[in-house]
Amino acid sequence: MRDADRRSVDIRALCDMDEGVLSPQIFSDEAIYQLELERIFARSWMLLCPELQIPKPGDFFTTYVGADRVIVVRQRDGSIKGLLNQCRHRGNELVRPDSGNARMFTCSYHGWSYDLAGNLRNVPHEDIVFPHGFDKAPWGCGAMAQVQTYKGLVFGTWDPTAPPLEEYLGDAAWYLDIVLDRFEGGLEPMGGVNKWVIKANWKIVAEQFVNDMLHPEQTHVSAFMASIPPDADMSQMQMPTTGRQFTSPNGHGLGLWTDGPILDITVGHRARTWFMEDSYPAAVARVGKARADVVASHMNLFPTCVMFAGFNHLRVIHPTGPHESEIWTWQLVPTNAPADLKKEWATNVQRAFGAGGLFEADDSAVWAGVQRTLRGVIGRRLPFNVQMGDRENKGPDPDYPGRVTQRAYSEVAARGFYQRWADMLTCETWSEIDEAAKSREGVRQ
Ligand code: FES
Ligand SMILES: [Fe+2]
Repeated sequence: MRDADRRSVDIRALCDMDEGVLSPQIFSDEAIYQLELERIFARSWMLLCPELQIPKPGDFFTTYVGADRVIVVRQRDGSIKGLLNQCRHRGNELVRPDSGNARMFTCSYHGWSYDLAGNLRNVPHEDIVFPHGFDKAPWGCGAMAQVQTYKGLVFGTWDPTAPPLEEYLGDAAWYLDIVLDRFEGGLEPMGGVNKWVIKANWKIVAEQFVNDMLHPEQTHVSAFMASIPPDADMSQMQMPTTGRQFTSPNGHGLGLWTDGPILDITVGHRARTWFMEDSYPAAVARVGKARADVVASHMNLFPTCVMFAGFNHLRVIHPTGPHESEIWTWQLVPTNAPADLKKEWATNVQRAFGAGGLFEADDSAVWAGVQRTLRGVIGRRLPFNVQMGDRENKGPDPDYPGRVTQRAYSEVAARGFYQRWADMLTCETWSEIDEAAKSREGVRQ
């Protein structure tokens, strides 16, 4: 893709969030996808893994940042680095396993070896192949410019000019803490990393977690019905009605419910009782009543880090082209919960939201259903409507900070997500991105 081709894409014309109108082209165009890799995935703070994925020095985990392969590795001093998983000799993937522990990373092609910090340390037959000497210092792995942790999650960015992580999270951190701060002792991953392919553009998947409390009563109705416990009080099996939607100027978004039977149906009655009753007083003391009262929430940190409260389910969406994504998930369980309850919690969430999960299968079908329509020429011409809740008051709310609606059903967070997407694709620097966001403060969305 030539720069001239990329510049010819008029992003603002395809994404008009003042009017709530979106071109389907943004989900299917190869030139836009390539621009996203450069402007969004190579600049944003990206989730790498939970910190407990790599607890000891030498522990590593291999992942993607956009389409780039990355090794996340714990250093001897306890700090964490993100290295480009690519040998500097001829580009072979340096580390193939999903995770492990290493003292050095040795390439399986010609044997160049790198230390845990990514410095090139050894070249086989160096004195023969470089008889006049070889300065190895400039030939280390590419390292991510910044790696930081936030309450047990590791994030990294390739961009040395990106704002610090806490600033990037902004007012979304308060909502992320609904999950990360709720339990004394924090959360721990259980059951490994689940990975599967979705035949849909990454934004279609991410938008649901930014924004979409509306779809469950339609998309998941069969899963809801099939999951109602046989001895349930049917008068309590109503769809939730009370909640909020939050949108951040940084493109993050969340929806929460404070009523309804969703936890009984997904994590099961026992886990729900521990979550909303046994551990509730401690949760109120830690995060306050408003956050402790959240029964379930979905959240997306721009661009692709997803967190569910209640289910304690973490995921990242890796784009693998304009028409396909990979979803990677971790099930987190409260460290201070009883051991058998942790297992039950993780198993039940897996049954609902794992690769073959009852609810996940519903979502996969509609995401792929959207993508199939985008093969058509006419199907890529007619714009999509993103206007729900466009005249709704967005706060202030006595209990929830930032821009929040008084209901969970809205598309204000989707508009915030796509606005940020357009800003990142069109702005050259972070100060331009910030200025674009500030210029819209107070503007109706
Ligand atoms: S590609 Fe790695 S040593 Fe040649
Ligand atoms: Fe869903």
